[in-house]
Amino acid sequence: MPTPITKAVIPVAGLGTRFLPATKAMPKEMLPVVDKPAIQYVVEEAVRAGLADVLMITGRNKAALENHFDHVAELESVLREKGDLERLSKVNASTDLADVHYVRQGDPRGLGHAVLRARSHVQHEPFAVLLGDDIIDERDTLLSRMLEVQQRKNTTVVALLEVDPSQTHLYGIATVEDSDQDDVVKVTGLVEKPPPGESPSNYAIIGRYVLRPEIFDILETTQPGKGGEIQLTDALQEMAAGPAWVGGVHGVVFRGRRYDTGDRLDYLKAIVRLASDREDLGAEFVPWLRGFVSELSADGASDAD
Ligand code: UTP
Repeated sequence: MPTPITKAVIPVAGLGTRFLPATKAMPKEMLPVVDKPAIQYVVEEAVRAGLADVLMITGRNKAALENHFDHVAELESVLREKGDLERLSKVNASTDLADVHYVRQGDPRGLGHAVLRARSHVQHEPFAVLLGDDIIDERDTLLSRMLEVQQRKNTTVVALLEVDPSQTHLYGIATVEDSDQDDVVKVTGLVEKPPPGESPSNYAIIGRYVLRPEIFDILETTQPGKGGEIQLTDALQEMAAGPAWVGGVHGVVFRGRRYDTGDRLDYLKAIVRLASDREDLGAEFVPWLRGFVSELSADGASDAD
């Protein structure tokens, strides 16, 4: 019987250089997407999948993250005195969401190095890793599906998205073989950010993983790779190619909605899409957006003249 999965690890210690200067004094995971920081969507996703034990791997700006998941007595008592129970429940939602633990990464030496910092919390169980700047739409149940596949196959499971060939140099890329299920593939090899034109496929790894604990032994000896960082993809390649005791790697092919909020363009798209879908905002926002788009089209037409 495979060991049940109860823990989620969320690395949030990256430098977020693509989003400077907003990320100079604040982790990119705290950037608001409509009215919640990106990290709250990610913790909510973990909890929906049944993982309420959350370990965050934090970096130099960890205070804002810790505060967001903690009580703010002063704010709570002001809202209580005013009788503003609706806003009070919004404030408390992130506090009561999960059992959140923190460990520091020290130097941000790469995602593989960040995941290795989870070893003493996770110990010998399989566990999920969710990247704190990657939002999966809540209508898409990717993580639950990955947990199910892990429990059935007892291997390590990554999430794969088919990307345009022009984008493969931005991702870890998997070589795959079909399996008996339409949305599951066997991963036979992985390479981090292959140069343009040299990608073995267009299956890109996105920010959800369900890892067997053997990953820690492999990460202990993984040497710095692309960008001088200890890459999780390199350790996963060892698992995919490695001996039977590491268990192999499968991929769940994701065909839903996903936003990389650490990328400025994707961040803007996430806000527009999620705001459009919101019951409390969509009714006003969508007509405004339609008007704005037709203004742009009209401008475009006159530019073309
Ligand atoms: P990214 O690849 O987006 O790196 O990390 P980054 O350094 O944060 O961002 P840019 O490219 O400079 O803008 C993917 C995830 O891994 C975490 C990040 O916080 C993010 O959630 N990470 C990355 C760490 O926790 N530690 C690291 O050393 C590197």
